Amino acid sequence: MHTLICGSIAYDNIMVFQGQFKEHILPDKIHVLNVAFLVPEMRREFGGCAGNIAYNLRMIGGKPLIMATVGDDYQPYDYRLKKLDLLQTHIRHVKDTFTAQAFITTDLDDNQITAFHPGAMNFSHQNAVTDATDIRLGIIAPDGRDGMLQHAREFHESGIPFLFDPGQGLPMFNGEELLDFIIKADYIAVNDYEGQMLQERTGRALESLAKETKALIITKGSQGSVIYTDGKEIKIPSVKPKAIVDPTGCGDAYRAGLLHGIANDMDWQTIGQLGSLMGALKIAERGGQNHHFSQDEIDQLYFDNFGSRVL
Ligand SMILES: Nc1ncnc2c1ncn2[C@@H]1O[C@H](COP(=O)(O)OP(=O)(O)OP(=O)(O)O)[C@@H](O)[C@H]1O
Ligand SMILES: [Mg+2]
Repeated sequence: MHTLICGSIAYDNIMVFQGQFKEHILPDKIHVLNVAFLVPEMRREFGGCAGNIAYNLRMIGGKPLIMATVGDDYQPYDYRLKKLDLLQTHIRHVKDTFTAQAFITTDLDDNQITAFHPGAMNFSHQNAVTDATDIRLGIIAPDGRDGMLQHAREFHESGIPFLFDPGQGLPMFNGEELLDFIIKADYIAVNDYEGQMLQERTGRALESLAKETKALIITKGSQGSVIYTDGKEIKIPSVKPKAIVDPTGCGDAYRAGLLHGIANDMDWQTIGQLGSLMGALKIAERGGQNHHFSQDEIDQLYFDNFGSRVL
């Protein structure tokens, strides 16, 4: 049985300007802003929440099935997923579009100017959850707005439990829509900031929203995470990372741990700890998919941190 991963496939283009934006963006000239930054250093990372989550889930022995839409420039990602032996049955090519991509320019003060082009992602509603077979669990990660709404409806109508992970897509929905997602979903995962926004938009406290689900998970970066389930609050500690290099994609790595734990009927303490370990392994590498570990290595690291075996 597979876990269906609905969300984006994207490229992240990261450029480093060897200066300071503030030397070039002058407050008295802001009405005629026209700046060009020479960026000798550039990387292109494989990203998108669905790509990242599937990558991590595969690493710990899960069976992810990605459901996403991609554009004419998909070929490098296609090659990569083939190499990783990740199924592409439900990755749909939308003609005359680009694959979703972010263009991130940072300066030496770590300021960022980002442009995000959703491209093919805005056609995610062309895929239907019901197209996929042999699914026992799913996740709705940030994706096109119509697609997210439709996929929630389809999971719900098919009786397939799913995790709602609105992430940076959360601001697209009003309180009523968010509440509808929460009622349909079995599990919710958000970071601290998104949890705050969820409360503001729905007008309900986390403890109250948790009652609509089997579990509501809040991640808090280096502060670990909290799982609200069954009227209880389970605190999950963070794992000390080998190095703190790049937090991008920690949330996705954590979610792979959640999905694997849920699919294998683990208890919530173990599920959270597996997520926490995955987040810490991710943060030591740049990009969302450049950390490599075997299942045995992850199992050993889990044992070193928590004193039991998990995989
Ligand atoms: N500095 C850190 N040290 C240890 N663990 C971390 C750190 N940052 C993140 N993690 C782990 O990863 C989990 C998810 O991180 P976080 O709460 O930052 O998610 P996020 O804000 O959704 O991240 P993103 O959207 O950038 O991927 C945390 O709950 C924690 O377990
Ligand atoms: Mg996140």
